[in-house]
Amino acid sequence: MNKALRKAVIAGNWKMNKNRQEAKALIAEMLPLVKDADCGVVICVPYTNLETALEATKGSNVKVGAENCHWATSGAFTGEISADMLAEMGVEYVVLGHSERRQYFGETDGTVNKRLHAALTAGLKPILCVGELLNEREGGITEEVVGMQTKLALAGVTKEQLANIIIAYEPVWAIGTGKTATAEQANEVNHYIRTVVEKLYDKETADAMTIQYGGSMNAGNAEELTAQPDVDGGLIGGASLKAADFAKIIEAASK
Ligand code: PGA
Repeated sequence: MNKALRKAVIAGNWKMNKNRQEAKALIAEMLPLVKDADCGVVICVPYTNLETALEATKGSNVKVGAENCHWATSGAFTGEISADMLAEMGVEYVVLGHSERRQYFGETDGTVNKRLHAALTAGLKPILCVGELLNEREGGITEEVVGMQTKLALAGVTKEQLANIIIAYEPVWAIGTGKTATAEQANEVNHYIRTVVEKLYDKETADAMTIQYGGSMNAGNAEELTAQPDVDGGLIGGASLKAADFAKIIEAASK
């Protein structure tokens, strides 16, 4: 596996944090700190901050993403936002299948797959999240769970479309808990996901795929995690809400 074949991307996942003023201030503080990044930089923000983030990042190296999108282009889906609505605003990325969506909002592998197709059709770049629960890791079925989530999410996705997808391996037990997977654990599962992609498509496609790690990645552990051969950057929750920490992670991934 050759790391030089693909691009590391550090994406912030703000979750349900920051009002408009706070978003403006955080982006203003962050931009000068990350302008020399040698990796992709994305911030995925609440819908209400998309306009602000797009405006504030104009002309910079920071791309903007949403945290979910619906599978239909429009219609009677109260409270939902379509991929087309996001694309029309100028949003480039969208997080899909995050474990919090699966856990609290009934998201399934089936709906993740439908949302993924809608995002791709609209021209968005999905950041597809997969990851096992603690009891699944303890039960020794991490590969089964992550492999199944990956295969079901990618059902019907062409090789050409896959080039626009990032996969984020996020062990659920490591999200927001301060418990990070060890660099070896992260690399092992990221590598496994790459073999799943290779079986579904081919080696060249798998080698070119950006596969991130997410789950309590921070300024202190980012360097070791992102140095792993199969870890191509990260999806960052808590630490993306502090400009200095986020910048340190980007610096680590740029090495
Ligand atoms: P965390 O969140 O970095 O706060 O653990 C990661 C994520 O949920 O994407």
